[in-house]
Amino acid sequence: MTGAEIIARCLAIAGMSESPGTITRTFLCSAMHDVHRTLRAWMEDAGMTVSLDGAGNLRGLYEARTPDAARLLLGSHVDTVPNAGAYDGVLGVVWGIALVRSLASRRLPFAIEVIAFSEEEGVRFGVPFIGSRFVNGTLDRNLLAQRDAAGVSVAEALRNFGVEPRPCEGARYLGYLECHIEQGPVLDALDLPLGVVTAIVGQTRAEVRFRGAANHAGTTPMRLRRDALAAAGRWIACVERFARATPGALATVGSIHAYPGAGNVIAGEAVATLDLRHAEDGVRRALTSTLRLAAEAIANSRELTVQWNTCLDQPAVPCDAVLTETLARSVESSGHQVHRLASGAGHDAMIIATIMPVAMLFVRSPGGISHHPDEAVNAADVDAALAAAQAFLREFEGRHG
Ligand code: HGY
Ligand code: MN
Ligand code: MN
Repeated sequence: MTGAEIIARCLAIAGMSESPGTITRTFLCSAMHDVHRTLRAWMEDAGMTVSLDGAGNLRGLYEARTPDAARLLLGSHVDTVPNAGAYDGVLGVVWGIALVRSLASRRLPFAIEVIAFSEEEGVRFGVPFIGSRFVNGTLDRNLLAQRDAAGVSVAEALRNFGVEPRPCEGARYLGYLECHIEQGPVLDALDLPLGVVTAIVGQTRAEVRFRGAANHAGTTPMRLRRDALAAAGRWIACVERFARATPGALATVGSIHAYPGAGNVIAGEAVATLDLRHAEDGVRRALTSTLRLAAEAIANSRELTVQWNTCLDQPAVPCDAVLTETLARSVESSGHQVHRLASGAGHDAMIIATIMPVAMLFVRSPGGISHHPDEAVNAADVDAALAAAQAFLREFEGRHG
C-alpha cells in the first residue's frame, strides 16, 4: 500500500463524523459504528481477526507462526477533537493495518495487534485516554461514572454503543509502536519527513469554576457586581502571563462557559478549562499551584468563590530507550535522517508505557497545523513511515526470531 492509499483511507474515515461538514468524532458517537465497520473490513482484508473490547477499542490480531505468541502492539486513537483534521490518531491505525497487509500473509515469530483506541482526546467526558486506560488496567469506577454534558456516564455510553463490559484480556506484549503526525512545526521547519520521539511531556487538565451572582446588566452598579465571567477573564490573562514567564510551559484555556449566558445578564457562574504542559513535572506542578492561588486571590478580591477540579495530572513519559533506538535505526536504514524530539502533544503511548516499552514515530505536519481541518500529511512522508516500519519489523524479527 502506498502513502497516497493510506491518505485516501484516512480521508474516507474523515467523512464519518457526528457533525456533518466537520470532522468530529467523540467517544463512541454513532459515527464510530461506520468507522469500526470500515476498519474491521480493512483489518480482515489484511489477515487479522477483529474484536471489540470492553472500552470500545477495536482490535485486529495478526497471528504469529505459533499460537499465543507475544505481540507487537501498533495503533492510535480514532476519536477526534471538534472540527478536527483527518490524520490525528487515524493515521496510526491505518498505517498499522497497511504494515500488516504488506506482510502478504507471511507469519512472524511474534503476533501483531493493531488497536484503534476509542477515546484519547478527552472531549466528551473531559478526561482523556479512556481506551488506553482500559488496556493498562486504570479505567476505574470513578471514570466509568464520569458523566458528559447530557448526563450520560461512560458506562452507559459503552452499553449504548453495544459494548459488553468485560475485563481486558491478558496477552504478552513485546512493545508498542505508535505512528502519529507531529502536530507541530519542528519537522516541517527542518524539512524532514520523520521524527523519533524521545519523551511525551506531562500535562495537567483542570476545570476552574468561578461563582458570583447573576444580576441585571442594566441596573446593577459596577461596584456592586460579583461578575464570574469578569473574574475568569482576569484569571485567563494571568494564565497567559505566568506561562509566558515560565520557559517550556504551554498553557491554554481552550473553553469557557458563562451562566446563564445571556448578553444582558451578569454571569453568576463561569467555567474555564486549563490545559498545562511541560517536559518537567516539577515545573508543571509548581505552575499549576501558582495558577490555582491566582484564581483564589481573584475570587476573594471580588467576593466570589472558585472551585478547582483537576481532571488529569499526567506525568511526562520517556519513550523506551531500546525500542526507540530500534526505531531510529529503522528510520536510518530506510534512507531518512533521524531527528529526535519530545512530543508536546499527549498520546496513548504515555498510558501504554505503564505496561510495556513504547516508541513513537512522528510524521511531518506541513505548516505545523493540527486539531484543525487544514491538518495534512505528504504522501511521500507516509511512504517513508511505512518503509521505516517495515525496517523496524525486520530488525524486531531478527531479535525475537
Ligand atoms: O491534546 C493532545 O495533546 C492530543 O492531541 N490529544
Ligand atoms: Mn489530538
Ligand atoms: Mn492524537
